[in-house]
Parts: sequence; structure tokens; C-alpha cells
Amino acid sequence: MPADVDPGCELCSRPPPPGWTLAYRDGETPDEEGTRETILTLGNGYLATRGAAPEASADGVHYPGTYLAGFHNRLFDTAGDESIVNLPNWLPLTFRPAGGDWFASGQGRRLHEHRMLDLRRGVYLRELVVVDRARRRTRVRQRRLVSMAHPHQAALQTSIIAENWSGRLEIRSGIDGGVVNANAPAEAGSCGRHLTEVATGGDDAETVWLTAVTTNSRHQVAVAARTRISDGVAHSRQPIHGPDDVSQLIGIDVTPGERVVVEKTVTVFSNRDRVVSVPLSAALEELRQAGEFALALAEHAAVWTRLWARFRLDVGEKHAWQLPIRVHTFHLLQTLSPHVIGLDAGVPARGLHGEGYHGHIFWDELFVYPYLDLRMPELTRALLEYRHRRLTAARRQAAGAGMPGALFPWQSGDSGRDESPSRSPSPVTGEWMDDYTGRQQHVNLAVAYCVWRYWETTGDLSFLAACGLELLVETARFWAGLATYDPADDRYDIRGVMGPDEFHDGYPGRPGQGLDNCAYLNVMVAWVLGRAVEACAIVARHPGARPWRAVAPTDDERRRWAHVGRRLRLAFLDDGILAQFEGYGDLAELDWDRYRQRYGDLRQLGPLLQAEGDHPNRYRISKQADVLMLLYLFSAEELTALVRGLGYEFDPARIPDTVDYYLSRTTHGSTLSRVAHAWVLARTDRRRSFEMLVTALGTDLADPQRGSTRNGIHLGASAGTLDILQRCYTGLEIRDDLLRLNPLLPEGLDRLDFVIRYRNQLISLHVDHERLRLTAAPGAAEPVPVAVRDRSFPLAPGSTITVALPPSAPVNGSPT
Ligand code: BGC
Repeated sequence: MPADVDPGCELCSRPPPPGWTLAYRDGETPDEEGTRETILTLGNGYLATRGAAPEASADGVHYPGTYLAGFHNRLFDTAGDESIVNLPNWLPLTFRPAGGDWFASGQGRRLHEHRMLDLRRGVYLRELVVVDRARRRTRVRQRRLVSMAHPHQAALQTSIIAENWSGRLEIRSGIDGGVVNANAPAEAGSCGRHLTEVATGGDDAETVWLTAVTTNSRHQVAVAARTRISDGVAHSRQPIHGPDDVSQLIGIDVTPGERVVVEKTVTVFSNRDRVVSVPLSAALEELRQAGEFALALAEHAAVWTRLWARFRLDVGEKHAWQLPIRVHTFHLLQTLSPHVIGLDAGVPARGLHGEGYHGHIFWDELFVYPYLDLRMPELTRALLEYRHRRLTAARRQAAGAGMPGALFPWQSGDSGRDESPSRSPSPVTGEWMDDYTGRQQHVNLAVAYCVWRYWETTGDLSFLAACGLELLVETARFWAGLATYDPADDRYDIRGVMGPDEFHDGYPGRPGQGLDNCAYLNVMVAWVLGRAVEACAIVARHPGARPWRAVAPTDDERRRWAHVGRRLRLAFLDDGILAQFEGYGDLAELDWDRYRQRYGDLRQLGPLLQAEGDHPNRYRISKQADVLMLLYLFSAEELTALVRGLGYEFDPARIPDTVDYYLSRTTHGSTLSRVAHAWVLARTDRRRSFEMLVTALGTDLADPQRGSTRNGIHLGASAGTLDILQRCYTGLEIRDDLLRLNPLLPEGLDRLDFVIRYRNQLISLHVDHERLRLTAAPGAAEPVPVAVRDRSFPLAPGSTITVALPPSAPVNGSPT
């Protein structure tokens, strides 16, 4: 039996279902604890709590963090950013033999500790055996959930067994409102105390509550906790009110081997919740209605069963990557669950799992929505509506830049204002440096792109008319305004901008001043201008759907958009490869071997160069996919048409060279980069594509970014990897109301099985190296027009179609 196996441990003795369980046993390394707590986070889209132990406090190793989606605050007394707020910790629960020490991190000797995340049911299980100074051995079993069934509820069940002692057991269970934001100390501006006006009280004999208000946004939060002894008899109960915390001290007499079960049920409400006027009243009422742990678990697990049925992505139970795929799905759903539909919350880059990037929203939704569009499109719609509600702030941002239309800021919190930092500490030296990443106005184009893909996938006219059209038109207005006309060659320039590659914020010697004619931006702008006009035409064809506000562009605007959309300038390198920006070809080549030898890992190449007194602006290097993002977002045919539409020669046969050129100069300093490259390589080098995917699947589990997962998951990379399996390896595209498929699995995968929801139809897909099988769920819907490689056919509800997939196109087999 391995040394870390304890025969008395229920988790050791019950082998977990493979592919569904993450387990951590003894021998932990404290510096990895932050990452584990992120991975062990439980959430339901509304509320999330990191996987810190209930007896732990923030001590440099552990970091209990609880967050509500969209609940932000700006520190009052500093020039801090709007940040997600670490809310009162509802976990605290510890015990002691009366007169002994409270069980706490570093207290007592742990003979065994086993933690497990049951992804299938969304439960965090823990078992440990601890011996105190008087050699009293106590076994603790815990189960924890953050309810997917009741988004305001969480629960912790603790069984305590005094293995070799008897006497009075004391349990302390409470809520700690003394918490501060301290999860990402390297990111100044949001660390500190966001909560004030803490008040505490009790309800019935088992219940305590705590309320607090954020310092600046004045959001109120209420947490109520009921601690019930479900097995054992409480002898005494005593409330303890601290200045910022509240708890109950419960006394129980125990005998050796006897099991005491404590159920802590918690409710959380805020004044941002709909249908809530007084958060505390709502929290107490919800708690009164909340059932026992067994019931809460059954209801919660039942919802997860339904979610898994909708979101499953199966590559084979024995496949090494089945578990990471589920881990990514699990954390995606814990951040963006169906409960988000009723909230005013966006897509935080680090999930609800930590305070990385202050909980800000960037452009990462671009990697998230395509996956959701085909699973639960109403989620994408709700998240795009979140953007739409912030159009006023985006219009102000554009006006501030002297432009018409709307500009979503690179980083934003709750208000939609620009929260991009102007200075940040170097990840290499810690020294404060100017930060120009906020020049990434391309976030605007990402939102517009998501609007259009959502529309294409769903055909949701009511959304297009009510929100999508305005988002597209206002984006088009901004970019058409930014483009300047050069009559010398009848071309438009977009100057002083920045693409996704954050290593370049200006030309050599001119940091922060931006770049001219970024290929990624200019092609995207041309595309968005076209889509804005197309959306107007679609809505105009449906008079009943027309928006009540005047949204459509004027005739003058249309004329200008058409001209800009045909004449934006692109730059090319000598060999005809699309240049990342104008002047890129004049930059120096980096001596990659020398830098690899010097530093090994080059993900932080930009800051490394700056630490040497050099600057990344001087070199042909990229932090992440930039030009190649175009191939991530558009098919080769679409890109060819777009570049030719701008009046340039473009030979799609040069695409593989373009991929090689930029890939060999990219350090993948962002986790999004490998997702984009795995996609781009899928049709030319499937082996490398799969290698990229596999590395991206390890983003949080392996945490190669040296501890960055301790500040939250990488949501864009998580969803992006799932989408590669869902759309890229199946060649799934929706164009012209046709569901197109062209599967090509990499060697590393034997099969893919999943269900999509397309135009309100549930369609199961099975793909392997020989065949594609499509099954439409029975129902009353019209048959779905489908095209597999070069064959088109209708897929009727209740029918199955199998198509043979010979190793290379064309398709010989016919639908059967
Ligand atoms: C990347 C951005 C990304 C952000 C948040 C940065 O490191 O460069 O593209 O939006 O992280 O995930």
C-alpha cells in the first residue's frame, strides 16, 4: 500500500471514477497551494469560493477568497482600479478538544490528508487525520458545495471522529468579514480592504449573519450561516461577535469512534441581485428555506448532471486528456453558468477564482463565446447584452479619443469605464514601468465579431435588432472615424494602435505611441464595416424587428464605410507575407539561440529585454498570435476574400509560410496564444496542432506560467481549448444558414462525442477517423440543412446520418 494511503480514509478506499476526479494527497508543497486552491474552487456563476481549507486564513500559503460575479469596488483612498471584491469568508469552521489548541494550518500533526474534486457532482471532498500535542487523534471528513441548484447557497458538511479520545469537543463556526483583497499583491491598486460597516447578528439559535458595504461602490453584501449538528447532541451554543466577524461556539461530548456531523449552510445576497431590496432579509429567508446537506447535495448534483449532458465533450474515458477537458468545462461553467443569464456580469479573464487582473474583463470572450454559442447560446446573448448596457461608457471612451461611435476599453470592471493601468510592475524585476497595453482598442472589434458569430449561429433576429446592430454600427463608426485618408494612393491608414501582441506598443525609440496599419486590426475593421451594413439590411427586411431608436448609419456614413472597407492599407514583407504592421520588416531579428541559452523560458521575453535596457519594440518577436489571429477567426477562404477585397494580391498558398514565419517568432507569453496556434495549425500540421492543444489543456493544471493560476484560472484558454475540439477538429462552421462539417482528427484523438444546440435543435455528433455520425433529437423542428465536406443534406428531427470519412477529401461515401 503506498505510504500516503490510509485504510481508514473513505477517499483512499473508494477509487474515484477515472476522468472525473482530481485528487491531491499528503506531501503538499506550500508554494503550490495557491494554485490548488484555484483548481479546487467551487462556483455557480453567481458565487464562487476558492478551495481554501475551512480552518485556514490568508497566511501567505492559503488564501480563502469568495467572489460574486460583477461585484466590484474601487479602493476609496488610493487611485486604485475597480476590482472584484473578496467577500466575507463563509468557510471558517474548526474544532478542538476542550482546553486544547484550535485546529488551524500549521497546528497539530497531520497523519494523512486527501482532497478530491468530484467534477461530476461539483463536490469538493476532504479527509484528514490530525494528532494534537496530547496525542489525541481526530479524523475529519468534509464535503463542500456551492449550489448549482440554488445560486445563493453554499454548504459544508464536516464529520469529526475522535479516534482515541473522549470528552468535550468544541466547534467554532462562523463568518469572517475582516478579509482584504490580497490574492494578487504584484498587481497594485486593488489590494487592501474593500469592505466597511461590518455588522453582525443572529437569527434562530443555529444562525449567525454578517453584512458589509464596499468602501466606494457602496454595494451591500449579506452572508448568513446556519450551523446544525445533524449527528450528535449540542450541549452548549454560544455566539461570539468580533469586530469584523461572528461565530458560534458549540460544545458536544464525544466518545472514541463516535461520529459528530456538523452541517454549515450558507446564503449570500447582495443589493445587485434582482428582486432583492434588503440583502440580509433575503439571506435569512433563503436560509430558513434551505434543506439539509443531503438534499442540497442531491439537488446540486442533479443540476450538474443536466449541465454535463449539455456540455459534455468526450474523447474516451481512458484518454489522458479526458480529465483536463472536464476540468476546463467545469471551471468554465462555474464562472459562466446559466445563472449568469439573470445577472449583470461579463467574462472575467481569471474566472471567479482569484483576483488576478483585478477581476477585469478584456477581449477574452472572443475565445469563449464560440463554444457557448453551440451549447447554450442564451448565455452568450446575456453576456453580449452586458456589453450593450455599457455602450454609454464606451461612447464616452470614444468621445474622449475624439472619435464618434463607441470604444470598449481594453480593461473594464463593473461600470464599463477604462480600467487599464498606466503603470505596472515588471514581472521580471518588479520595477514599475509605463504600461501601454490599454492601447489595445481591438477589444472593440472582438465584441463586434462575437455579435456577428452569435447571430450567424443562432439566427436570433430579436437580439440583432435590439442590441447587436447597435454594437456593430457604433464599432464601425469608431473605426471609420479613426481611419485617415491618404489621397496620394487612395488609401486609408489607421495609426497609433496596438494589436494583440503586447510586445509592440510603438516603433523603436517611441514606446507607447502605437503602430500603424496593424494587419489584424485593418482586416478586422474592413470586415466589421461590412457586417454593420449587412446587419442594417437584415433588420430592414423585418420591419417588425426594427429598433425603436435610430441606429442605422446615414447615407454619408455608408459611403465612407464602403470606401474605407475597400481601401484600408495593409503592409507586406518582401516575400509577400502579411506584415504585422507597417515597418515590421525594418525591425531587427532576435538572436533566439542566445536568448534561449541565457533565459531558457522566453515567455516573458519583452520584460526580459527591458530589464536588460533593451526594448521588444526593436525586434520581430511576438508575445502571442497577432497576424495569425486572422486565421483563427476566419477561414482561409474568408481571409483571402477580405485581403483581396482591400485591393491586394493574396495567394492562400502562402498561408503555411505565414504561419511558420510568425509562429517561429512567438513566445506564447499569453495562454491564449497556444489556443490560436493550435487552431491555425490544425489543417497544415495536425501533430503540432495537437501538441499545442495539449499544452493549452495543461494551462491551469500544470500552471507553467509559474504560479499565475494562484490568481485565478485562465478562462479564455480553458474555453478556447474546448472550442478547438468542438469546432476546429470537426471543421464545424456556420455560414449562409448551413451547418458545415469537415472533420479531421489529429492522431492523438480516436474519437470525439458531443452535443450541440443549433437553431434550437439538439444534434449529437460522433467523429472518429473513419466516420461522422449526426443524430438529431426528435422534435417538431424543421430539418437542419447540413453540409459534410462537399455533400449537403437535411437532417430531420429524430434521424441519424452517418458519413464515411476517407483519409483525405473528397468524400466518397454518401449519407446513409
Ligand atoms: C494577454 C491578453 C489577455 C489578458 C487577459 C494578457 O496576458 O496578453 O491578450 O486578454 O492577458 O487574459
